[in-house]
Amino acid sequence: MSNIQSVMHENRVFNPSDEFVAQANVSGMAAYQALCQEAARDYTGFWARLARETLQWKKPFTKILDESRAPFYKWFEDGELNVSYNCLDAHLATEADKTALIFEADDGTVTKINYRDLHARVCQFANGLKSRGIRKGDRVIIYMPMSIEAVIAMQGCARIGAIHSVVFGGFSSKSLYERITDAQACAVITADAQLRGGRVMPLKSAVDEAFSLGCCDTVRSVIVYRRAACDIAWNDNNIWWHDLIANQSSECEPEWVEAEHPLFILYTSGSTGKPKGVQHSSAGYLLGVMLSMQWVFDYKADDVFWCTADVGWITGHSYVTYGPLAMGATQVIFEGIPTYPDAGRFWKMIQQHKVTTFYTAPTAIRSLIKLGGELPKQYDLSSLRLLGSVGEPINPEAWMWYYNTVGGGRCPIVDTWWQTETGCHMIAPLPGAMSIKPGTCTLPLPGIQAAIVNEAGEEVHDQHGGFLVIKRPFPSQIRNIWGDEERYRKSYFPEEMHGAYLAGDSARRDIDGYFWIMGRIDDVLNVSGHRLGTMEIESALAANPLVAEAAVVGRPHEIKGEAVVAFVVLKGPRPDDPEKAREIAETLRNWVGTEIGAIAKPDEIRLGENLPKTRSGKIMRRLLRAIARGEEITQDVSTLENPAILEQLKNAVK
Ligand code: PRX
Repeated sequence: MSNIQSVMHENRVFNPSDEFVAQANVSGMAAYQALCQEAARDYTGFWARLARETLQWKKPFTKILDESRAPFYKWFEDGELNVSYNCLDAHLATEADKTALIFEADDGTVTKINYRDLHARVCQFANGLKSRGIRKGDRVIIYMPMSIEAVIAMQGCARIGAIHSVVFGGFSSKSLYERITDAQACAVITADAQLRGGRVMPLKSAVDEAFSLGCCDTVRSVIVYRRAACDIAWNDNNIWWHDLIANQSSECEPEWVEAEHPLFILYTSGSTGKPKGVQHSSAGYLLGVMLSMQWVFDYKADDVFWCTADVGWITGHSYVTYGPLAMGATQVIFEGIPTYPDAGRFWKMIQQHKVTTFYTAPTAIRSLIKLGGELPKQYDLSSLRLLGSVGEPINPEAWMWYYNTVGGGRCPIVDTWWQTETGCHMIAPLPGAMSIKPGTCTLPLPGIQAAIVNEAGEEVHDQHGGFLVIKRPFPSQIRNIWGDEERYRKSYFPEEMHGAYLAGDSARRDIDGYFWIMGRIDDVLNVSGHRLGTMEIESALAANPLVAEAAVVGRPHEIKGEAVVAFVVLKGPRPDDPEKAREIAETLRNWVGTEIGAIAKPDEIRLGENLPKTRSGKIMRRLLRAIARGEEITQDVSTLENPAILEQLKNAVK
């Protein structure tokens, strides 16, 4: 454990203003502590109270937490509700005219929709899904651009109890195929194309390619939303979105589901080659996202909320499709990219839509600093009252810029630590309760028993690094890995942790008890705030006919946080000609783009005759990491079978 050491020494502390504290939902440290104490006194009673007060139940629950089949926990098991009802119908009596979504398209066109119309369109679409025979428990893949329709597709599934699995539009047809088959989906919802940065990027063709890769015979319907009006191929089971909803009623009685009914599956990378289908519940998940909207985003009815995440990631599930709608918020959703037509786009949108709460990722902040650090000053950002960050640790320089240049030194920053598996924020400031420091996600949310432990699962002292765990089950957590109970158990509840949830991150606490996330403990990279398994990229490379073996490591990157570096051994001889080597590297880079998606493309590929291995044949990744970073190799290489290979890889053409 002694080698988990933090290099961050940040002493600056920022307090919320008196005005902010006065208006906050959780106002002052004592209010935060009172919630924590309530949870400590009566853990299940605490969650039960919140679940009764926060959610609208069709049938109230009597059971709170069932731990008898741990780690397969059940919360509020005998209660019944519908998530889409909680997100839409719940607001119709008083807020039907309130704007739910402000959609800004890539070209700047703005479309607004209020709760009444959104409800009607979700109902129509849900009826359309039913007309195709889609029922409670069926899996539906959603492969769509950021759009009002993407939100409708997700809410429509939730309304009829179908389980959606959104696949990020940047993933390749191969990734799509794997998810369709793993989930045994009965339908795919897609668009002809997506528009980003002024370019038309096909989507439907990737669905067609996914089908050509193998048997997807569970899929009976492919629903296509016309976004770009471009030419696409057409098959028997295809149906246009507009034809599906034509003549459908705008009323649709929700399917009342039990609290534990799976709301969605979302695939994420792990330390093996195959992505994990993270399965979430209905009630526990919704409770988590709603509480974090109130506690962390300090949500107010007149807020204009903007989370920039795509619905293809967990952040877009929790803080676009479910959290803000369940709160009855007005939110901005954006089709395009932050740098088009220029790096002032976000700031222009904040000004135009009078955004109050802005939530984005450190990688976006860093790239916007680089492309136009002074640009925010050209816009009126005075509507902002709270800023958020997610996906990776935010470096103090980016934090300070975000705080001063975007937030005008007036807006607290909530640095939110959480994961696909936790469903909602776990460690994050309650901005009216605690002071913040650049680079730390501060303290756990009330009821979340986060701790740092050693390999034996024993808690370590403050200032020491260790594994981040959550000691008690919590309502919003992952319920299973779709179809793989054993992997679920092994990945998150290994025996050494004595029943605690192992997050896969290392962290330390400072003298104030604040958590500092240090990085992953498994073979998972964090590229632009997105999780990529090294094994996943390695198996993609190894699947290329030219490749005998591959090893992938991460290297710090100024904008992306981490960049992918691959070491590859070819089946044939290693080319002497640097041009030839570059050509092969380019071919392999594109190959990874096709196998997984553009985000997984290695920045650098080095060809070697071999990889550094121990005598037992294990690849010594720490040496590869040093080479990738251009560091001197100071580590012990005495167990290395083939030391000469290090020189070759160091000098390899990049
Ligand atoms: O390593 C942590 C990092 O992102 C991982 C979770 O990735 P994913 O499931 O894709 O979800 C990302 C959005 C929630 C974590 O295990 N991470 C996320 N947020 C932070 C973070 N690391 C440091 N600080 C954060 N605020």
